[in-house]
Parts: sequence; structure tokens; C-alpha cells
Amino acid sequence: MTPRWLIPALVVVVGAAAAAGCGGRGADQSRLVADGRRIFVSAGCGSCHTVASANTHGSIGPNFDTSEQLDRAQIHTQLNAGVGGMPSFRDRLTPRQEDAVTEFVFQTLHRRR
Ligand code: HEC
Repeated sequence: MTPRWLIPALVVVVGAAAAAGCGGRGADQSRLVADGRRIFVSAGCGSCHTVASANTHGSIGPNFDTSEQLDRAQIHTQLNAGVGGMPSFRDRLTPRQEDAVTEFVFQTLHRRR
């Protein structure tokens, strides 16, 4: 398992690499969202959550096309918490994957209206 102290260090390294890597923030942002959509499907979020843009139809958890508009911190907390019927993804996703899937869910929740 990744030691706890290493996690912030990894976030910094990955963040710096992403910032240095390419183009403007817009390009990074849309790549993050696209990665997040793939992770949403591959990590199995879609088996419990409906998101039209990811073509998932789960109904055990909230439907993100219509549910409450959480902020990024709330989504991130939920990912790590393991509350209600939802398992914790703390040890299943890398920080970068968590950021990507958080951004994807955030954009999904806030896209409408
Ligand atoms: C086994 C089913 C299951 C899986 C898999 C699952 N969830 Fe959930 N999720 C739930 C349930 C049930 C809730 C409601 C939990 C509660 O009682 O607060 C929930 C709640 C949430 C919430 C809070 C929604 C709100 O409006 O309060 C977010 C955000 C979320 N899930 C994201 C994800 C993401 C991202 C993944 C994949 C990495 C995922 N979930 C995987 C079942 C699941």
C-alpha cells in the first residue's frame, strides 16, 4: 500500500507534470474529464450510478444526471469515505484517477441548467 505521506507528494508530482505537459488549462481540463469518464466506467461506478454521457444505468446510488450538485471536495470525500451502500475507493484508485473521476462527476452534476 502507498504510505500516507507519499500521497500528497504524488499529487504534486502528477500535477506539475500535467501543468508542464501540454497546452492551456482547457486542454488539461478536458483530458481529465475524458479520463474520468473512462475511470467511472472501468472502476464500476456506473454499476451503481446513472450517467447518460458515460452510458451507465446503475440505480443503487444517486443518478448524477439529476442528483444534488455537490462540490469537488464533497465528491472526493465520498470516494474515500465508504458510507451508505458505497464502498471506499481510497485503496482502489490512484490520486490522479480520483481527481479525474471527481472532475468528471463534478462536470456531470453541474453541466445541466
Ligand atoms: C456498490 C454501489 C456503488 C458503487 C460501485 C459506487 N457508488 Fe457512489 N454511491 C452509492 C450509494 C448507495 C450512494 C449513496 C450513499 C449514501 O448513503 O450517502 C453513493 C453516493 C455517491 C456520491 C454522493 C452523491 C450524493 O448526491 O450525495 C458520489 C459523488 C458517488 N457516489 C460517486 C461514486 C463514484 C465516482 C464511484 C466510482 C469510483 C462510485 N460512486 C461507486 C453506491 C455506489
